[in-house]
Amino acid sequence: MNIPLIDLKAQYESLADELNKVTLQVLSSANYILGKNVTEFEKEFAEYVGVKHAISVGNGTDALVLALKAMGIGEGDEVITTPFTFFATAESISAVGAIPVFVDVRKDTFNIDTSKIEDKITKNTKAIMPVHIFGQAADMDEINEIAKKHNLLVIEDACQAIGGKYKGRNIGSLGDMACFSFFPTKNLGCAGDGGMIVTDNDDLAVIARALRTHGSGENGQKAFNLLNNIEEKVQTSEGSNDTIYNPLKYYNYLIGYNTRLDAIQAAILRVKIREIDKWNSRRREIVEQYNEAFKDLDLVIPVCDEDNQHVYHMYILQSEDREGMLSKLKDKGVATGVYYPVPLHLQKVYKDLGYKEGDMPVSEYLSHRTFAIPVYPELNEEQIKYIIECVKK
Ligand SMILES: Cc1ncc(COP(=O)(O)O)c(C=O)c1O
Repeated sequence: MNIPLIDLKAQYESLADELNKVTLQVLSSANYILGKNVTEFEKEFAEYVGVKHAISVGNGTDALVLALKAMGIGEGDEVITTPFTFFATAESISAVGAIPVFVDVRKDTFNIDTSKIEDKITKNTKAIMPVHIFGQAADMDEINEIAKKHNLLVIEDACQAIGGKYKGRNIGSLGDMACFSFFPTKNLGCAGDGGMIVTDNDDLAVIARALRTHGSGENGQKAFNLLNNIEEKVQTSEGSNDTIYNPLKYYNYLIGYNTRLDAIQAAILRVKIREIDKWNSRRREIVEQYNEAFKDLDLVIPVCDEDNQHVYHMYILQSEDREGMLSKLKDKGVATGVYYPVPLHLQKVYKDLGYKEGDMPVSEYLSHRTFAIPVYPELNEEQIKYIIECVKK
């Protein structure tokens, strides 16, 4: 039997009629950038997360970049984050000219170790960017407390964690801003690239909205006024979030970006967001079966903190003999993935930051042991049984 790490074809087939219908509707509407589907999806997403504003963008990386920019973070500033994450987390910090400052992770949840954050705070620190890695929330109460004490902003990298909860509260509503990715393999993925910024802060929302479209239009004017403390009433006309009818489209107020969610992606995501809770529950059911089957093996199974409702973007096992496990599972047709083989403080691109091996012992330890096996809602019982058998063998 061959089982991929994720089966996007199976997901597509489960919703094919509806996805085809809405895609064709966008094609025939000839309204491809921003517009009704994007606005409606932003409303639905904000409601789902329980925040005031959702601003869709081209991908999760851009969401992080725009969030940092909207907060005014740039050259010489420091942002605290984790080295045990996808590169885009730290890359976004570097992309705005700031410096990623790494803090090691907890050995059990793989999330930032909050007991080590305060040691890394300097006069240049502006924000903390926790990552809800593999779909489980970081320790947000502790993070927010530290941020409050040191007057720092908090940006959740929620790219892997749509639908997750922390102490009953939704991931994405736990900091000043949060960012999501709709990369196709994410729990809520589109048919290309996509991302979302969310916030309860009206001003940050206006600036992020302006930045995604060249700093132009009515949002651009409002953002310019906010950033320069100018009190002037700017009207919001119907077309202010539209690429074609935006009344101030060719008036630029900030140096921004061109990073928007396509209408086709928004239409697809509007169909899929209705499924996300069901899909995440199914992931948890599969994980219960895995945990029960693997608990007495010579493997470390993932830990879910009692505060958290995990969404298992990845199911991560640890083995002393990772290479042996990977090659045997490959022989049996079970796909695996290594997340993450090189912690970010040891990436070549960051050699000038001056970290060395041994600086982040937990992340380094994990990077030699962790691997993912398939977990996705479309796995059937026969496949789950086969995966369990193969891992046990
Ligand atoms: C933790 C994390 N941050 C950021 C990103 C960036 O998202 P995107 O690939 O949509 O740019 C991803 C996903 O790829 C991610 O997993």
